[in-house]
This record gives sequence, structure tokens and C-alpha cells, in this order.
Amino acid sequence: MNVQSMFGRIAPRYDLLNHLLSLGADRGWRRRAVACASQLPHGAVLDLACGTGDLTVALAEGLTPQRLVAADFSAQMLELAQRKMARLLPGREVELRRCAAEDLPFGEGEFDLVTIAFGVRNFASLERAMRECCRVLRPGGHLVVLEFTLPGSRVVRGLYGAYSATVMPLVGGLLSGSFSAYRYLPRSIRSFARSGALPRAIGASGMPIVRAECYTLGVVELVVARKPQ
Ligand SMILES: C[S@@+](CC[C@H](N)C(=O)[O-])C[C@H]1O[C@@H](n2cnc3c(N)ncnc32)[C@H](O)[C@@H]1O
Repeated sequence: MNVQSMFGRIAPRYDLLNHLLSLGADRGWRRRAVACASQLPHGAVLDLACGTGDLTVALAEGLTPQRLVAADFSAQMLELAQRKMARLLPGREVELRRCAAEDLPFGEGEFDLVTIAFGVRNFASLERAMRECCRVLRPGGHLVVLEFTLPGSRVVRGLYGAYSATVMPLVGGLLSGSFSAYRYLPRSIRSFARSGALPRAIGASGMPIVRAECYTLGVVELVVARKPQ
């Protein structure tokens, strides 16, 4: 599966499917991430794997950054993000950058805050991406990650597993035209959550995790790490 072209294919229907398949909960998850970010220094913010820019817009509306950069490796996603920002954030300057998380075109310590919503499980090299996030953060800066995970309760996990194995690929496939993408997405959530790769990669980058919590019966987790001073 070429993840970059997959996201390009599903980009036009990405927002609709996000809201539909999460039953509208995705807005609340991003609001939680913004609420968390608002308590952290956020003069210069990088929203990595920004997709169509929903978190970027929420950050622009909920925080007061002097610099806000939205980055993604998909040209199609960035084009939609650009249109959304022109519509929802008139007169606000948001830099859009096309780049891979594993090779960020920014200098050391340029950002106070890096956010990543529902991106990390797709990264080709999570360890490299986390090292890059750490490099572009200033000492004392924070990384805020929002990602799907598996609910702790066996009953909820079973129900969620059935939903993501049937409804997600069917509805996602019919509306986006890409059944393979919406089969990949729930599979990637399962394997990523079971692997424990996120805390390992964040730890290996040298940033201790300072906060971790789950929402909506444990289907989504928020992880905050801090680059040492
Ligand atoms: C599931 S979407 C999430 C988008 C957005 N953050 C949101 O909250 O809806 C994942 C995004 O990550 C991007 N992505 C995946 N791997 C990437 C990588 N290695 N470097 C940069 N962007 C990547 C995809 O192009 C896609 O736009």
C-alpha cells in the first residue's frame, strides 16, 4: 500500500468520512487536543500530517500562535487545506509546506509546539519522524499526538472491531471509491496500537511522555511529550 497515493485518492471525501465514521466525535477529539495545547507555550506551532487542515484551523481559532505551519506529504490534502483556510481563516497567515514527517525542512528548535492528529500510525519510519519532531522543537517544547488506539475493555474492543471491520470499509469504500483504503485504515489502527511503537519511538527520540489519556471509551489517545531543556 502506497500511503501517500492512498491519502491523495481519499482526500476529496476525507472530511465527510471522518465526521460520518466517527459519528461526529472527531471534532471533539481535536478540541481536546487544542485545549491541551492552549496550556502549553505555543508561539510557533507546526501541525504535522495536517491533512485537510481541520486541526490547523482549530489551532488557529483556539490558540494565539505568532507562527502556524501546516505540513503534509500529500499535495491533494494540502490543496484542500489551503482552500479551507482561505474560507475559514480569512486574513490569517498559515504557512503550508509539502514534506515528509521523516525529513522536515525546518531548522533546529524552530517550534514551541508540534501537533500530529491521526498521522503517526501511517509514518513510514515513526522513529525517524519522532527524532525530526524533537529536532525542530526548542528545548522545553512539546509534542502533542492524537491517535486511534484499541479500547481497554474487551466488550468495547469487540464492538469496535466489528464496526471497523464491516461499517468502515463498506461506507468508506462506497463514498471514497477506495475500498482498499478503508480496509487499510482499521487494520493499521489495530496493528499500530498492539505494537506499542508510539511510546517506544517517542522515548527513543529523547522526549519523555508527560501526559497520556484516552477518550470515547478508549478509541482515541492523546499523548504529550516534552523535549528536555
Ligand atoms: C488520517 S490523516 C489525518 C489528517 C489530519 N491531521 C486530521 O486530523 O484529520 C493522515 C495524514 O497524514 C499524512 N501523512 C501520512 N504519512 C505522512 C508522512 N510520512 N509525512 C507527512 N505526512 C504524512 C497523510 O497524507 C494524511 O493527510
